[in-house]
Amino acid sequence: MLFNKFAYPLSLATFFVTIISQAAAYDPLDPTGNITIKWDVMSWTPDGYVAVVTMTNFQMYRHITSPGWKLGWVWAKKEVIWSMVGAQATDQGDCSKFKGNIPHCCMRNPTVVDLLPGVPYNQQIANCCKGGVVASWGQDPSAAVSSFQLSVGRAGTSNKTVTLPKNFTLLGPGLGYTCSQAKTVPSSVFITADGRRKTQALMTWNVTCTYSQILASRYPTCCVSMSSFYNSTITPCPTCSCGCQSRNQCISSDSEIRTVVAMNASTSQQTNMVRCTNHMCPIRVHWHVKLNYKEYWRVKMTITNFNHQKNYTQWTLVAQHPNLNNITQVFSFDYKPLIPYQSTNDTGMFYGLKYYNDILMESGPDGNVQSELILQKDMNAFTFKQGWAFPRKIYFNGDECMMPPPDAYPYLPNSANSDLIASSAMASFLLLVLLVFW
Ligand SMILES: *[C@@H]1O[C@H](CO)[C@@H](O)[C@H](O)[C@H]1NC(C)=O
Ligand SMILES: *[C@@H]1O[C@H](CO)[C@@H](O)[C@H](O)[C@H]1NC(C)=O
Ligand SMILES: *[C@@H]1O[C@H](CO)[C@@H](O)[C@H](O)[C@H]1NC(C)=O
Ligand SMILES: *[C@@H]1O[C@H](CO)[C@@H](O)[C@H](O)[C@H]1NC(C)=O
Ligand SMILES: *[C@@H]1O[C@H](CO)[C@@H](O)[C@H](O)[C@H]1NC(C)=O
Ligand SMILES: *[C@@H]1O[C@H](CO)[C@@H](O)[C@H](O)[C@H]1NC(C)=O
Ligand SMILES: *[C@@H]1O[C@H](CO)[C@@H](O)[C@H](O)[C@H]1NC(C)=O
Ligand SMILES: *[C@@H]1O[C@H](CO)[C@@H](O)[C@H](O)[C@H]1NC(C)=O
Ligand SMILES: *[C@@H]1O[C@H](CO)[C@@H](O)[C@H](O)[C@H]1NC(C)=O
Repeated sequence: MLFNKFAYPLSLATFFVTIISQAAAYDPLDPTGNITIKWDVMSWTPDGYVAVVTMTNFQMYRHITSPGWKLGWVWAKKEVIWSMVGAQATDQGDCSKFKGNIPHCCMRNPTVVDLLPGVPYNQQIANCCKGGVVASWGQDPSAAVSSFQLSVGRAGTSNKTVTLPKNFTLLGPGLGYTCSQAKTVPSSVFITADGRRKTQALMTWNVTCTYSQILASRYPTCCVSMSSFYNSTITPCPTCSCGCQSRNQCISSDSEIRTVVAMNASTSQQTNMVRCTNHMCPIRVHWHVKLNYKEYWRVKMTITNFNHQKNYTQWTLVAQHPNLNNITQVFSFDYKPLIPYQSTNDTGMFYGLKYYNDILMESGPDGNVQSELILQKDMNAFTFKQGWAFPRKIYFNGDECMMPPPDAYPYLPNSANSDLIASSAMASFLLLVLLVFW
């Protein structure tokens, strides 16, 4: 009973139960995380209105990656979209009732996607045309916004007669959100760039969408492996962490990759391009307890991509460990504590440095990113025993990663205590050198 003092969160048996019970949107690591969709009516037209729709990703560590978001809703009446700037409806629908001017979209339940970068300027507005890619708030608030403009016809033409669209849906690749009903809110106020004039939307309504893991995916998409300097055991990811249903389609050798990629180059079909492993995850996070100093300890973290057909741009990693409240230095990654005003303060997000390692390249020699962390020991709690030095939870791109069962963690041999202490004087000196010269 080595680990009974600690509430290690997951075992294989309870994992799926956990996922299902957590599907109710609330994320304790990001309690106010949501995507807010704001409609600002900018002008009334003879048969409707022109609105700017702004989507803001307030989630700290969950972003929307390529191929981007899809926003849907159901019109309350018989509205049509005359035109759009900065986005488009995926399906025009049946506009056969119209003569002359044909609307952009006549669907009762339109689905809208962002435009790709590089469209002509007259089809753009601010914050549009990023292929639906939206950064997380924690990583880059300036890139966490996406906007488009639409002109709506056959709609109400005043704030008394207009009816709000209903049943919003927001999907991203592998992500599902549940959205609230639209609610009229105080009109947005805009200030011109020079700060000399204020204008106001004629009417504003908001929709709030929260992440819903049950919609997002059935299996985990990442797993955690572990090792330490005090035990030569490497604890692998649990077998079939990400489900083994695609095991007979995985890629087993480099030559096979070339064939498959070549054969399927013309079809843009997303086939399963994950390397064959015991865990079958596209992403593995390895946590290595590397060094012990007198007052500090050092961890090496490696994220490996096993997907041969995916570059993870703007990836994020969230870790929960009680010693993160005393994190002293992070090499090669950016770090930001999550919910830093709580006394626990044991959770933080890591992400890549811009233009250096913010893209986790497809599987292969460059398909990994690494960092080392130095943590100051909290002398009351710190121990190498009972797997304390390993993370409690890891999330990659907002998805919780499968952890090994606690009894498989590298275990501190009983005889090791004295050696560790003997080595720490030397190690402290090394740390000093590292802190000064790196
Ligand atoms: C959405 O997120 C923002 C920013 O964190 C927060 O202020 C707001 O209360 C959230 N809204 C809801 C409905 O949770
Ligand atoms: C509608 O607009 C009028 C002014 O045009 C304003 O006085 C009124 O408060 C608005 N009503 C709502 C519900 O926004
Ligand atoms: C919106 O969704 C609710 C519940 O799913 C459904 O009852 C209602 O008919 C939908 N409204 C429209 C306009 O589709
Ligand atoms: C509506 O959404 C915007 C973000 O786009 C936010 O700043 C504003 O506070 C929201 N209004 C309400 C009443 O929630
Ligand atoms: C190419 O893709 C198709 C699906 O689009 C798949 O059935 C086929 O197995 C793939 N080819 C190879 C060699 O994997
Ligand atoms: C990933 O990025 C590399 C370098 O930019 C590129 O050569 C490769 O085609 C990309 N892979 C995918 C699947 O987009
Ligand atoms: C939480 O930790 C960060 C560093 O990781 C530190 O800057 C911050 O002051 C801490 N907050 C509290 C309340 O301890
Ligand atoms: C670690 O952090 C906690 C709270 O943030 C603080 O109370 C404690 O003194 C710190 N320990 C060390 C060794 O700095
Ligand atoms: C290393 O850890 C493994 C897994 O917990 C354990 O079985 C083994 O006994 C440990 N090795 C030593 C030398 O204690």
